[in-house]
Amino acid sequence: MNISSTQDAVIKREEQYGSHNYHPLPVVLKKGEGVHVWDLDGKRYYDFLSAYSAVNQGHCHPKIIAALVEQAQTLTLTSRAFHNDLLGEYAKFITEFFGFDRLLPMNTGVEGGETAIKLARRWGYDVKGITPGKARVVFAKGNFWGRTIAAISTSDDSSSTGGFGPLCPGFNNVPYDDSEALKAELEGPGGEDICAFFVEPIQGEAGVVVPSDGYLRRVKDLCEKHKILLICDEVQTGLARCGTMLASDHDGVKPDLLVLGKALSGGVLPVSAVLGSHEVMVVFRPGEHGSTYGGNPLACKVATAALEVLMDEGMVENSKIRGEQLRAGLNKLAAKPGSPISLVRGRGLLNAIVIGGNGGNYSEEGVAWQLCERMAGNGLLAKPTHGNIIRFAPPLIITASQIDECVSIIERSIDSL
Ligand SMILES: Cc1ncc(COP(=O)(O)O)c(C=O)c1O
Repeated sequence: MNISSTQDAVIKREEQYGSHNYHPLPVVLKKGEGVHVWDLDGKRYYDFLSAYSAVNQGHCHPKIIAALVEQAQTLTLTSRAFHNDLLGEYAKFITEFFGFDRLLPMNTGVEGGETAIKLARRWGYDVKGITPGKARVVFAKGNFWGRTIAAISTSDDSSSTGGFGPLCPGFNNVPYDDSEALKAELEGPGGEDICAFFVEPIQGEAGVVVPSDGYLRRVKDLCEKHKILLICDEVQTGLARCGTMLASDHDGVKPDLLVLGKALSGGVLPVSAVLGSHEVMVVFRPGEHGSTYGGNPLACKVATAALEVLMDEGMVENSKIRGEQLRAGLNKLAAKPGSPISLVRGRGLLNAIVIGGNGGNYSEEGVAWQLCERMAGNGLLAKPTHGNIIRFAPPLIITASQIDECVSIIERSIDSL
């Protein structure tokens, strides 16, 4: 990919002084507005990653930025050693918004997941009566919820875990989209020690893996039958991304614990949340869990604005309709003779194409990366995951004509391979 010497110098500086824990596309961004971002040379791109679905509301949404600026000039952080005037108001707002009893505020998505696991273990001991030290949380194969030691301890991806052991005990996996496997785990040896099933309604980092309709409902029924908690990780799928406010709404399921993050601040600062029922959320006593920044006044104001914007601007509906339009366009590209696209999948505006197979003249190896480079050249940014899958997840404010333009950018980029 050809980039200017200015951008090249900035990338080299980052490579020299930064840890190499990411492999970004060679583009240096300096400005964002709505569905667009601009690089150092002033070139404009459609953002089809939306910071892994943190920027659902669009870059620098004026209402969210106004809330940020106003609060930043008033009070930003008190820690939880003292009360602040906004946490209670925000907790009331977000619990009513999603229909839960209580909120535990954190910052990043992975902290939300960690918090949910601690809540589930403690609930398992205090309420379900699991033998102390024995509680197990079951996960789905292919899960991704972050990079902390607990998060990688639940992963079956060797590139996440390799060389980082020893890993945490008390976790195991069953195949995704397989409620029978969960049933067997619950009914098998030690099933009585399971306190929770932790699952993404659609697996984002696994490559937008959409389970069969009713999977989550079957899982929820099993959880109720065996008295275990259903934890839905909606850090990536939630907040209108999948054409419903929560992806679990698609199956009409309300989890026992809901984990939110990313777009909870519209991409402005790290804000995450765990929501749950009174019975589960009160198992923590003072001093047993927390975070210096969790529940800070700035986050409370920004998250409230971010949720209001999703509702006020009809982003659930737009995500659903524009998602259908995008998949229809991509499916047309996949149907072209020799197309490198072997599969289009997704829901709402969380979508992916799988590259390879299909009798085309393309090897899987490297084509997804090359295609992302070509798309960048043509003004659209996306990033491969797992080598041959490209996620398409633009901000939820994208219009019909913009989707058409983006499909033609993708088509032109494929044709140029
Ligand atoms: C489903 C899911 N959960 C949790 C996380 C972790 O979020 P964060 O990077 O904010 O810690 C991610 C990040 O991609 C995610 O996709």
